[in-house]
Amino acid sequence: MEIALDMEYPIHKPVMVREAMKFLRPHSNGIYVDATLGLGGHTEAILEYANSHAKVIALDIDDEAISFSKNYLSRFETQIKFINKNFSQIDKVLESLSINEVDGIVADLGISSFQLESSGRGFSFQRDERLDMRMDPGLRFTAHDLVNEMDEEEISKVLKNYGEERWAKKIAIEISKSRSKKPIETTLELANIVLNAIPKKFYPHGRHPATKTFQALRIAVNNELENLEIFLKKAPLFLKPGGRIVIISFHSLEDRLVKNTFKGLSSACICPPELPRCGCGRKSILKNLTHSPLTPSLEEINENPRARSAKLRAGERISYD
Ligand SMILES: C[S@@+](CC[C@H](N)C(=O)[O-])C[C@H]1O[C@@H](n2cnc3c(N)ncnc32)[C@H](O)[C@@H]1O
Repeated sequence: MEIALDMEYPIHKPVMVREAMKFLRPHSNGIYVDATLGLGGHTEAILEYANSHAKVIALDIDDEAISFSKNYLSRFETQIKFINKNFSQIDKVLESLSINEVDGIVADLGISSFQLESSGRGFSFQRDERLDMRMDPGLRFTAHDLVNEMDEEEISKVLKNYGEERWAKKIAIEISKSRSKKPIETTLELANIVLNAIPKKFYPHGRHPATKTFQALRIAVNNELENLEIFLKKAPLFLKPGGRIVIISFHSLEDRLVKNTFKGLSSACICPPELPRCGCGRKSILKNLTHSPLTPSLEEINENPRARSAKLRAGERISYD
């Protein structure tokens, strides 16, 4: 996708960057993966903290994000390998570069402020845009397809499971009624349907009533939880002993996946307790560095309200040498 590189770099504050760097401890000559390049905030921090020859393999499914960051991070040109791929393919990406292990991996999940505010891809109800919501423009199904083609029950499930929306059923009924007259084309049409579906006295405080519906559809369109699950299984295996992985999530389902994966990787023997001796021989591969997730400081939340729901978890690859 062609984008105007002279477009002003959007004002961008990477989330929990200080905490992420504290865990990642970037050092010169290290190789790092930024699984979610976005506008380049965490990649930039890694290269500034590492302060010399470190390298970053920077992935993003959004080719616009890659173009923006290439431009913004041009001063680090020789240290960054920009790759327009899904992080669920981290194994194939590293294999194609003949890299067996890396010093650290960071993923700052979800959507970037650029995608939300200026991509024109219908992620937000703040502007009237065609319903799309694909972070990767090559994906087959858009939010328009889901809203107009899924059956009512499926829509309700998506809103409930991915948006934790208590009015899921009512919203699905209203969507179904509305599209029986004419297809739902834009973000504002959808936002108005949600507004009509929820009784006014139950409108949430401090956020738009359509927030959870939009979030749920975005997660479904981009297969976000499936991709995260695959990535979490693969990524720790590419860490050097002592290498660290840092994940910043914004949704309770994502955080649960991270927590459970780290817990699984940090537990050793899985034999039933009644066995006198271990028969599985399983060793833990990750030391869990955050038993409860870190959250942003009040100062950061005040400066950057998008950080509000962030949760950071980190783990370290165990060495058995
Ligand atoms: C929250 S933003 C990252 C912001 C970045 N850390 C920064 O400070 O600029 C998330 C980015 O991850 C990308 N992304 C989401 N899911 C992805 C996936 N499965 N594989 C690769 N990139 C993904 C999105 O396109 C988006 O650009």
